[in-house]
Amino acid sequence: MIKKYVYGNPFSTEAAVENIIPSEDSIPYFEADGQGNFTLTLAENDIVYGLGEQIRGINKRGWEYVNWNYDNPNHHEDARSLYGSHNFIIISGAETFGAFFDYPGKMTFDIGYTKRSEMHIHAESSDIAVYIITGEDEKDIVKQFRKLIGRSYIPPMWAFGYGQSRWGYKDEKDIRNAAEGYRAAGIPLDSIYLDIDYMENYKDFTVDNKRFPDLKKLTAEMKADGIHLVPIIDAGVKIEEGYDVYEEGVSNNYFCKNAEGGDFVGAVWPGKVHFPDFLNPAAREWFGKKYEVLTSIGIDGFWNDMNEPAIFYTEDRLADTLSEIEKLASGNMGIDEYFRFTGMVAGLNGNIGDYDKFYHNINGEMVNHSTVHNLYGMNMTRSAFEALEKIEPEKRTLFFSRSSYIGAHRYGGIWQGDNKSWWSHILQSMQQLPALNMAGFLFTGSDTGGFGCDTTEDLVLRWLQYSLFTPLFRNHAAEGTRDQELYRFSTVQAMGEMIKIRYSLIPYLYSEFLKAALNNEMMFRPLSFDFPNDEDSLNTDDQLLLGNELMIAPVYKQNAKGRCVYLPEEMMMVRMRKHDDFDTEILPRGHHYVRAELEELVFFIRSKKMIPVCKPANSTDKIDWNSITYLGYADCTYTLYKDNGISPNPEDSLEITELR
Ligand code: GLC
Repeated sequence: MIKKYVYGNPFSTEAAVENIIPSEDSIPYFEADGQGNFTLTLAENDIVYGLGEQIRGINKRGWEYVNWNYDNPNHHEDARSLYGSHNFIIISGAETFGAFFDYPGKMTFDIGYTKRSEMHIHAESSDIAVYIITGEDEKDIVKQFRKLIGRSYIPPMWAFGYGQSRWGYKDEKDIRNAAEGYRAAGIPLDSIYLDIDYMENYKDFTVDNKRFPDLKKLTAEMKADGIHLVPIIDAGVKIEEGYDVYEEGVSNNYFCKNAEGGDFVGAVWPGKVHFPDFLNPAAREWFGKKYEVLTSIGIDGFWNDMNEPAIFYTEDRLADTLSEIEKLASGNMGIDEYFRFTGMVAGLNGNIGDYDKFYHNINGEMVNHSTVHNLYGMNMTRSAFEALEKIEPEKRTLFFSRSSYIGAHRYGGIWQGDNKSWWSHILQSMQQLPALNMAGFLFTGSDTGGFGCDTTEDLVLRWLQYSLFTPLFRNHAAEGTRDQELYRFSTVQAMGEMIKIRYSLIPYLYSEFLKAALNNEMMFRPLSFDFPNDEDSLNTDDQLLLGNELMIAPVYKQNAKGRCVYLPEEMMMVRMRKHDDFDTEILPRGHHYVRAELEELVFFIRSKKMIPVCKPANSTDKIDWNSITYLGYADCTYTLYKDNGISPNPEDSLEITELR
């Protein structure tokens, strides 16, 4: 059952798609003061799940999280905010219930941080809607919540293939080299990403025609080989006379305004930019139509970036900072001045004060950005999604975004942002998955191999062994870091085998994804969701259940030749070196040390279950669905969901087959 409690006059975020009549009663479980504060006493064994894309473990107890969409490339343990705000939690214990705090500004979740036994939730304003969801168990609560917020985005099937990305592919030649590198190594590949370098001076919806003289031809050539090119689109629009997007935006008042009514100026990759007012329906429609510049030449996928929105600096703050620095330059910088100096420079980027300085035009009313900040990225992806529904009504377009709020899951996926080539970030990504699924984000994954810092060969291999299970499976690295394409490494053979294993699992992964999307379920779950009465399952936060048949327990430690795995029931362990070279062993319920050499993938099939596997192919369109065989226990069945992978409404071509 879902009950809604309304305080003051909340902003309509459009996160929920069902209209629930607000309750007259006072909110249960929490003590609410009507000023945006909600307090709850936590019993020693209560677990708090959720918060989507937040750092730390699956159980969120023991930290203070600030939901404020933030361009934060340092996903350290002490981070408080990342790119998305997903204010949904489940408190699990003597009383189990879900709570969604639908508030688009800054929210703080102190979950046993100030005081271990207390949870204190604070919204910056008293205008907030809260939904309390009760049900049979965690899975039932999630199902009801997901129904409330609407069906998750389903990408085209080709988006389940492997993708290669790099910030720093400068021209057509670099793209061709990547494609040839993969094809020569015999490694499947479905997409290559175009980062900001394809644009002319980082201007959205332009193509640098010196470096990419014929993007249409390149796109067609790649597609003939099963490879989709996926360009990036950034939120900020470069200020430049004669640039159509800038000029149209200015003349139609489609950009966010400053307090004086002028167009607000921030700086991102192109230097000074204006930010499209994605909360204004007319501006949203206008920006969305621009994607046609690229779809008209054959592009069918996009990633939307810098849409928190990221602001490197604003003119005013930069001027103040420079004048302060000038003063400091003449003196002898002591410790205080030195820290002030470094603090001021570091404080230019993403300064929270800058978000108070601009406004959205919402139905003629000027709304301060900070009060609706967390909705910006969601409405950028919405702008693209809604436009493409009209431009390409016959097919699904791939979209994923960096920034999001609950509701954005209807328009696209998200990737988990600028992680680092660190071992701990394999685990971090894994721990975000169930919480993201709870919030509706099914099409997600991390930058495989790590984005920032130099990667290592063993890290890439282990990362592949984890992300080959995630719907979004993309290798991405930052400019200036070590080359990270798989064919660069001496273990290319083993890496290629991991990709082939991914392709052999696509019938299963795609089927489980469809089930999760169509039935409002989670594709990735903590063990405790399926084994709620099992103490050791409640404590396990580095293994996940995948769909109804698998459990994954990736190795995420340097030089480890195995790991401890907990089996909440008897399972079949599969040890795979190649898709067709593997052995299996039935292991009893309990704790096991499982060996896994660097080039071996180990995963588990749940008791009395089996999964479909197919022959790998160079790209998803070449998968032979008649080659399906089964892996797992004998004498059981599997329900396969399959559609044509491209029609906007999967139900139009959905086939549900009972395999045995
Ligand atoms: C941001 C994105 C990253 C991208 C870079 C350059 O940092 O998160 O993925 O490569 O910008 O566009």
